[in-house]
Amino acid sequence: MTDQPAGLYPPSAAMAAGAHADKAKYDEMYAASINDPEAFWGEHGKRIDWIKPYTKVKNTSFAPGNVDIKWYEDGTLNISANCIDRHLETRADQTAIIWEPDSPDEEAQHITYAQLHEKTCLMANSLKELGVKKGDRVVLYLPMIPEAAYAMLACARIGAIHSIVFAGFSADALAARISGSNAKVVITADGAPRGGRVTNLKDSVNQALINVMHDCKCLCVKRTGQQIAWRSDGDYWLHEIEETVSADCPPEEMNAEDPLFILYTSGSTGMPKGVVHSTGGYIVYASMTHQYVFDYHDGDVFWCTADVGWVTGHSYIVYGPLANGATTLMFEGVPTYPDAGRFWQVCEKHKVNQFYTAPTAIRALMGQGDSFVEKYDLSDLKLLGTVGEPINPEAWNWYNTTIGKGKIPIVDTWWQTETGGHLLTPLPGAVATKPGSATVPFFGIQPVILEPTTGEEIHETVAEGVLCIKDSWPAQMRTVWGDHERFEKTYFSDYKNYYFTGDGCRRDADGYYWITGRVDDVINVSGHRMGTAEVESALVAHAKVAEAAVVGYPHDIKGQGIYAYVTLMSGEEPSDELRKELETWVRSEIGPIAKPDLLQWAPGLPKTRSGKIMRRILRKIAEDDFGALGDTSTLADPSVVEDLIENRMNKQ
Ligand code: WT7
Repeated sequence: MTDQPAGLYPPSAAMAAGAHADKAKYDEMYAASINDPEAFWGEHGKRIDWIKPYTKVKNTSFAPGNVDIKWYEDGTLNISANCIDRHLETRADQTAIIWEPDSPDEEAQHITYAQLHEKTCLMANSLKELGVKKGDRVVLYLPMIPEAAYAMLACARIGAIHSIVFAGFSADALAARISGSNAKVVITADGAPRGGRVTNLKDSVNQALINVMHDCKCLCVKRTGQQIAWRSDGDYWLHEIEETVSADCPPEEMNAEDPLFILYTSGSTGMPKGVVHSTGGYIVYASMTHQYVFDYHDGDVFWCTADVGWVTGHSYIVYGPLANGATTLMFEGVPTYPDAGRFWQVCEKHKVNQFYTAPTAIRALMGQGDSFVEKYDLSDLKLLGTVGEPINPEAWNWYNTTIGKGKIPIVDTWWQTETGGHLLTPLPGAVATKPGSATVPFFGIQPVILEPTTGEEIHETVAEGVLCIKDSWPAQMRTVWGDHERFEKTYFSDYKNYYFTGDGCRRDADGYYWITGRVDDVINVSGHRMGTAEVESALVAHAKVAEAAVVGYPHDIKGQGIYAYVTLMSGEEPSDELRKELETWVRSEIGPIAKPDLLQWAPGLPKTRSGKIMRRILRKIAEDDFGALGDTSTLADPSVVEDLIENRMNKQ
């Protein structure tokens, strides 16, 4: 055995031999995907069943003023048929979804493909019963229960566009998304058990709908059986409607470019934007990445721990796995309930083969000690995955040795809500990994590193700058819902003819990519994106707040924490009570994930003479890096900086 260079972990011989792609195959397929994308994606598009096969493969432009992305544009298909019906001949009795409830004492469910078909059809016909038609929007505000998957697939089946709102978002955030998409129906549940506590989701929906000006019906799943308030009009129980409708719903013929879903995500400015994903390209790419990146083989049990409220849940709990006829695990609970061994208990119980989670969860569990892991048999695991932020070496080592026993690959997958699927990632049988690097591009992806100020592409292998993508891939987002101009402005205007990711990146001598974090005013809290502007506007909406500035700072578990500087209206006095009031306020405006971790009273904010807040300085203070404040001489009043430094919050 030869010694491997430090920090380089090549695929084991066994992994390479059994994988969908070894090194030679990856090299060959990658080259083919770049040299002739039409031929490559024309061929791989066939992994999906088309009603009317496409004759055109790629028709995409990143040209300024004319950004237009179309894949398989004359093909027609139905995604729900691809995720369900086409498997029925061979897999009717195979488990499609394993559902693990919040409480380990409640029984898990094994839903077969035949049952998935029936449940999805019943849900689809129920939506039709409520008047939902092709092209209509349906908002989902649900716990992690099988009905969330049925609802997504039911929408896809009848051609309705779903927009999932993470159940941890507040009623106000929900109202904005229902209004923003003019949704006809919102699907929710009575309650959502999580970590042993129950939230009353229906209550939040009721509250949200008060602020929705158009007529929106509510379809309610009975999950807990708890008492809930019913509106006088427009509320329906799913189980009641299902008794009246047929269990067969023929899938609607959809064009490849018809929107499949809208998913709101935070940006650097303004309110979250509705990312729109289409049908044909999305499902080709989601299913292909699921198969190759996780090296999924028939009969494997795949577990992605994300919530379906995030894109990870869309692509790698529901669409990718089910399109591949996989068995996918859906977990209602949290990693630490009833204790920090829950993930590993579930892995053992359901014989999980591929496990995909976020560095923030790994760090939180690592901190609880190894005894929670050692109790369980993890010998079915063949692969580990991570997503959401760069993984730090300590967390990587723990994941590798304590969970993977040093024997199985870790795929670090870099991608975004906008990209629909993995863009930078190792294929486990092909690419030697380096802890902390998302390694190399998936098929068809041409990453480039640009010099941030000039926008010049850096051609040398070793490079550092902003990460852009040179050409389109099938699962790329198509537009911002209702605002194509914002789409162009956000992603295609800073660097012309490229897709701008918003991430900084380094490329090493081996051509490996290392994400260095966002270069815009987006922070990454526990793998979730939060726009600083969003939290600021929530804070200033409070009557006692005059001004607020929000930045990220390093946080041991969350990766980044939210640091808020708040200037009060004159006459208002800072107090612990008011601090709590503001925290509660932000929770109710956006949701618990937006609550500032540290909130500092700021008598004044550092501003230029033209009134622009100097965020660079605020970031440095929040990072506790006072030595690197840089030039403060252009400030209108340099003394405010002294005050902010003196009163920096220190508790985590
Ligand atoms: C941002 C996208 C796509 C699913 C989860 C988040 C960061 C994501 C990685 C990774 C380093 C990562 C980036 C990206 N990010 N994965 N493997 N290594 N950074 O989706 O909410 O759209 O956030 O998350 O900064 O831009 P999202």
